[in-house]
Amino acid sequence: MSKVALVTGGSRGIGAAISKALQDAGYTVAATYAGNDDAAKAFTEETGIKTYKWSVADYDACATGIRQIEEEVGPIAVLVNNAGITRDAMFHKMTPQQWKEVIDTNLTGVFNMTHPVWSGMRDRKFGRIINISSINGQKGQAGQANYSAAKAGDLGFTKALAQEGARAGITVNAICPGYIATEMVKAIDEKVLNDKIIPQIPVGRLGEPEEIARTVVFLASDEAGFITGSTISANGGQFFV
Ligand SMILES: NC(=O)c1ccc[n+]([C@@H]2O[C@H](COP(=O)([O-])OP(=O)(O)OC[C@H]3O[C@@H](n4cnc5c(N)ncnc54)[C@H](OP(=O)(O)O)[C@@H]3O)[C@@H](O)[C@H]2O)c1
Repeated sequence: MSKVALVTGGSRGIGAAISKALQDAGYTVAATYAGNDDAAKAFTEETGIKTYKWSVADYDACATGIRQIEEEVGPIAVLVNNAGITRDAMFHKMTPQQWKEVIDTNLTGVFNMTHPVWSGMRDRKFGRIINISSINGQKGQAGQANYSAAKAGDLGFTKALAQEGARAGITVNAICPGYIATEMVKAIDEKVLNDKIIPQIPVGRLGEPEEIARTVVFLASDEAGFITGSTISANGGQFFV
């Protein structure tokens, strides 16, 4: 029987590429999303992958949704914490609401999704948690104090949990994408993208969602069992830790 992989924010952007790559690698995939019903419906029609709607910022919704998926699809072997948002503003203009929304989704959401799957993974002595952080969690980014703090928090969470999961056969790793060609990045003003962002990327282009997806498939595999607590940068050479 194929292993079950759950991808948050798995119906669009990088998450959709991750869902498809895991499906191609033989996993039974379930994907969650927040509110874009049209994108989720089109994604399910295209791929056959079931989608489930709730906010990762809501712990009870995560616990209930994960229970439903485990009943319908099977025990979750691979969790990809990919859902994320931006609410950018320079700090002097950043509102408490912008801070809270990003922390609640990008950091607390990772706790909310991981906590309900953890005991089952421990009991089954196998699990793969893969957290999609960001280059801006590694280096910081002006206008993104909220996002950079949340994404850096995801890296601390990854390293701590890797130590707890190691003896139980659970690996916990993070991927830090640089600028990837998704709606999140295409929303940036084209002039800013071409004149300021792309010139900072040594390979001279944005990354493709599939390049992140292939890294996820590798970390999810049985062969990656010795890799835990690691942070893999996939940023076209833009930043080295
Ligand atoms: N794109 C980049 O260049 C880049 C770079 C570094 C890191 N990242 C990270 O990679 C991840 C994916 O980014 P992306 O560019 O693919 O984003 P995207 O195209 O905006 O897609 C985000 C996905 O997350 C879902 N989502 C948002 N808030 C959610 C919530 N509260 N609960 C559940 N799902 C939620 C969205 O659901 P709906 O479809 O319902 O809106 C959507 O499926 C994010 O964590 C992002 O921070 C992206």
